[in-house]
Amino acid sequence: MRTHRENLLLFFSLLAFSPLLALSSGPPYSCDPSDSSTQTYAFCKASLPIEQRVQDLVSRLTINEKISQLGDDSPAIPRLGVPAFKWWTEALHGMAYGGKGSIHWSFSGIFKATSFPQVIATAASFNPELWYKIGEAISTEARGIYNNGQLEGLTLWGPNVNLFRDPRWGRGQETPGEDPLHISKYATMYIRGLQGDSFEGGQAKALKTSACCKHFTAYDLEKWGSASRYSFNAVVTAQDLEDTFQPPFKSCVQDGHATCLMCPFNRVNGVAPCGDYNFLTKIAKEQWGLDGYIASDCDAVGVMAGMYAGTPENASAVALKAGMDVDCGTHLQKYSASALGKNMITEADIDRALRNQFAIRMRLGLFDGNPLQQQKYGSIGKDQVCAKEHQDLALQAALEGIVLLKNTDNILPLSKAKVSSLAVIGPNANNASILIGNYQGPPCVSVTPLDALRNYVSDTKYVAGCSNTACNSGIAINQAAQVASSLDYVVLFMGLSLDQEREDFDRSDLLLPGSQQDLITNVAKVAKNPVILVLLCGGPVDVSFAKTNPKIGAILWAGYPGQAGGPAIAQVLFGEYNPGGKLPMTWYPKDYITQVPMTNMNMRADSATKYPGRTYRFYQGETVFPFGYGLSYSNYSHEFVSTAKTTLKLQGLKTSLATKLYEINQIRSKECQNLNFKTTVKVTNHGSIEGRKPVLLFLRWPNATNGRPRKQLIDFTSVHLKAGETAQVGFAVSPCEHLSRATKEGKRVIDTGSHFLMVEEKEIEITVA
Ligand SMILES: *[C@@H]1O[C@H](CO)[C@@H](O)[C@H](O)[C@H]1NC(C)=O
Ligand SMILES: *[C@@H]1O[C@H](CO)[C@@H](O)[C@H](O)[C@H]1NC(C)=O
Ligand SMILES: *[C@@H]1O[C@H](CO)[C@@H](O)[C@H](O)[C@H]1NC(C)=O
Ligand SMILES: *[C@@H]1O[C@H](CO)[C@@H](O)[C@H](O)[C@H]1NC(C)=O
Repeated sequence: MRTHRENLLLFFSLLAFSPLLALSSGPPYSCDPSDSSTQTYAFCKASLPIEQRVQDLVSRLTINEKISQLGDDSPAIPRLGVPAFKWWTEALHGMAYGGKGSIHWSFSGIFKATSFPQVIATAASFNPELWYKIGEAISTEARGIYNNGQLEGLTLWGPNVNLFRDPRWGRGQETPGEDPLHISKYATMYIRGLQGDSFEGGQAKALKTSACCKHFTAYDLEKWGSASRYSFNAVVTAQDLEDTFQPPFKSCVQDGHATCLMCPFNRVNGVAPCGDYNFLTKIAKEQWGLDGYIASDCDAVGVMAGMYAGTPENASAVALKAGMDVDCGTHLQKYSASALGKNMITEADIDRALRNQFAIRMRLGLFDGNPLQQQKYGSIGKDQVCAKEHQDLALQAALEGIVLLKNTDNILPLSKAKVSSLAVIGPNANNASILIGNYQGPPCVSVTPLDALRNYVSDTKYVAGCSNTACNSGIAINQAAQVASSLDYVVLFMGLSLDQEREDFDRSDLLLPGSQQDLITNVAKVAKNPVILVLLCGGPVDVSFAKTNPKIGAILWAGYPGQAGGPAIAQVLFGEYNPGGKLPMTWYPKDYITQVPMTNMNMRADSATKYPGRTYRFYQGETVFPFGYGLSYSNYSHEFVSTAKTTLKLQGLKTSLATKLYEINQIRSKECQNLNFKTTVKVTNHGSIEGRKPVLLFLRWPNATNGRPRKQLIDFTSVHLKAGETAQVGFAVSPCEHLSRATKEGKRVIDTGSHFLMVEEKEIEITVA
């Protein structure tokens, strides 16, 4: 994608060219039953298999018509009654502006949508059911806007499933964090919600909307030092590819049945993925079975053209030959005719891309007559956009994503009765746009944390303390300290904003910007009670100073919590909601980044070069807060109840006596499935307040040699427990998937000997015979 600013520019410049934003009465569609000419076409017959309809349509197109369809902006083919289609629409955590498909989503019609928390915060809930419901609500709103004639496509370009590999990454906020399994589950549930469980729908495979997993693969650097995503070559080992970078994309395709993958700008091991036949065709389409299309990131083919020494035709040819189907941009539209003329591509290459494209448009129901008269999604009205249930869900998501990082002497929750006056301090307390993060749309409502807290304590005074998150102007530490010292309690809203972390912009350090730390420390020093620090940021910050300062009683992290972030934070502070979120990424100390160039893609530590490794799976050093960390107002205990087997015989798998390793070729094979077993964990809430408790199941090996992770998340779920209540949680363990590890060559093997299943401080041993 372009940067946020570029998107806005594009958005407004296009607005200028469509002065009346003429709203039709509904969305355009092909195969109008009142048009007798189209009625005879096989591609209009809904009873025929999609493959046959697509084949028929493509066979009717002239070569120029075919080439016209290769970009994200596909013009109409009036001769056949096929309207224009815009492939690029954004929906990362709510319908968003930015893509060309949402150009008419503006003032003269519906111009709002439910804004769910930025993905990194939603991920902190560790609640798959929530992710499904969010996807479902967003696709309902997309259909509502579409049915109102304000969207020109239903292909939504999310989720972003790249791993949050480096804490500086400006787009880490868009992702579900640093763990491949966690991302995979997030993606699967979100896609199912967006697509309307299409894969359960049998032969028709109808789509509510189409989801797209980006950026395939190993894309996670924007602009750092002299490195830029437009030219960066990510050097990735076979081992890291197998167990870290690829699993989320594989799950997108195999578990979520995503109908699109997007290839990125950067190169991977010297080759741009948009031009890599191995990635796009052999792996995604043939091995994983992608049933959909591959899009390029916007202008990535143009960028690729700059990288290949040859002609612009060469980039077109390379992309089409590799298996790319939709060029977000105009490169293919401009250069495919001459590439064809020079015999660099054949018409069959173009036809393949078009078949994949039109199959999606048909599965979306756009070739079956008036979409408004269709049973399933035709009746979704504009009243569904910002429906109360969706807004309630945005609040629930914000609540579930809040992570309590410190709570000395149970200073939280605050009691309404005991807080007669409140100081609210900080540049993030009263700025609604900061709550939303990037890939944003216009929220249904916005209530800042300051607004929300005023509803709890009428004597609330506000001092920003500095003008913005950069906190290097308008500094008013004395004023803030003075107000703080005169009131009962102090809540500080600090952290980051898109000024520090965003697309095309990585952070240069891990500290709170400018004078934020000074402001917090000076306010804490003079406050009557220990202060409460609320961090709004996507990426992690080194707040060691706050962790150790006894005058800072509590720390909360709320990510960018979306439109309901203000009320959610207030509910947590005043004990109306018991926080249960867990960090989806490691919070490193500030010196970590001096040991790790952002351009080094290696996940594994290397003692020879003092490279410390990345993420909780490989980094052994100190953390500010570890992956999976998060307190609550309750106290929970965990106990393994039973495990069917403590010695595991891996019958049916091939083993070599020499290496004592079981080799796995197909995790989904029958042999593998026969080995699955169940383990049960008992969880008890010892607190006096009900709560939602994510339960994370990890695996560890006896040691972390030979590239074995220190530990590895293998499953999780979330239980709701009343005060004093106990519940049993069952996990299905699949040895091929969960006990295996990747070798240096990128093969999956299972070690013989000990393995340990872990939940918090408890573990049990499983021996592989
Ligand atoms: C594109 O150019 C590269 C480098 O010159 C060359 O190796 C490759 O064969 C060309 N590809 C096509 C499809 O023409
Ligand atoms: C809110 O924050 C954004 C992002 O930093 C900034 O661009 C905007 O100017 C701020 N708005 C106000 C009213 O301070
Ligand atoms: C929570 O439980 C742990 C372990 O049982 C105990 O040490 C701790 O004091 C308990 N804390 C509270 C607040 O009950
Ligand atoms: C580490 O664990 C593996 C797998 O269980 C085992 O084969 C190996 O001997 C262990 N190495 C050391 C140094 O303990």
